[in-house]
Amino acid sequence: MIFRRRHLLGLEELSREEILHILDTARTFREVLDRPVKKVPSLRGVTVCNAFYEASTRTRLSFELAAKRLSADTLSFSTTGSSVAKGETLLDTIRNIEAMRVDMVVIRHSSSGAAHYLAKRIKARVINAGDGFHEHPTQGLLDLYTIRERFPELNGLRVTIVGDIAHSRVARSNIWALVKCGARVTLCGPSTLMPAEIERTGVRVTNRLEEALEEVQVVMALRVQRERMEGGYLPSMREYARTFGLRSELLQKAGRPLVMHPGPMNRGVEIDPEVADGPDSMILDQVQNGVAVRMAVLFLTWGGSEIEMGA
Ligand code: CP
Repeated sequence: MIFRRRHLLGLEELSREEILHILDTARTFREVLDRPVKKVPSLRGVTVCNAFYEASTRTRLSFELAAKRLSADTLSFSTTGSSVAKGETLLDTIRNIEAMRVDMVVIRHSSSGAAHYLAKRIKARVINAGDGFHEHPTQGLLDLYTIRERFPELNGLRVTIVGDIAHSRVARSNIWALVKCGARVTLCGPSTLMPAEIERTGVRVTNRLEEALEEVQVVMALRVQRERMEGGYLPSMREYARTFGLRSELLQKAGRPLVMHPGPMNRGVEIDPEVADGPDSMILDQVQNGVAVRMAVLFLTWGGSEIEMGA
């Protein structure tokens, strides 16, 4: 299949075929990353800028590494120490970066829709690295890639996502991708953190964790965003951990599903350390697969089709 999109803004607009094509391309790049020379010439001469208006460890570093593994030139921009502090707008900043002949912009921003906004106004390719509460498409893709390694057949797979669904761009991207691929998704969390009418996306909702874990093959915990405590969404961290935290005895009882978390984790809140570091945890596999998935996204949005395997 030929991937025709110039940007990756969200998974809502992608078809099942496009999603699976990205994952299949990522599998080829995953093989490259296991070689002694972890580099291909696919994006030689292309310049990729990481523009991060919010904090990030995994996404930012893995996009940078993905671009370097594809032989692209990279530069990074963050709000700290930049002219954003002097009041420069997002569009002015990115247009100035583009004027330096940057070909692709990877953008993380606190405003939902920031990536769409840029894609309409600049010539460079735009990749959404997380926009507000809207989407985090490459996280959704790397999660799906990681699940598919263990469960090649996604159709009918039971996946539970636990936590603050309302404010989670990771949950949204996962829901779009999993439902399109035929997985049966259950959302579990406090009713204050469950978006209204979310069932319309094809998911099931419960606020009872034991029920959400029945016959499930994969469970994904989301980060409790401590800043939400002040908004009165949650009673206390201790209460949250007791009601929605992934604990070993619960997961044993549920038949030991695979455990995922996008990071960063609050150990002892949404996930116990014993679970995060246990034999069923896929958390570091997710991070490892993120590089290959982001290579695939950069490669395909640039218009790549045949992967040259030489360095
Ligand atoms: N999962 C994720 O987006 O992590 P970072 O915020 O560290 O990039």
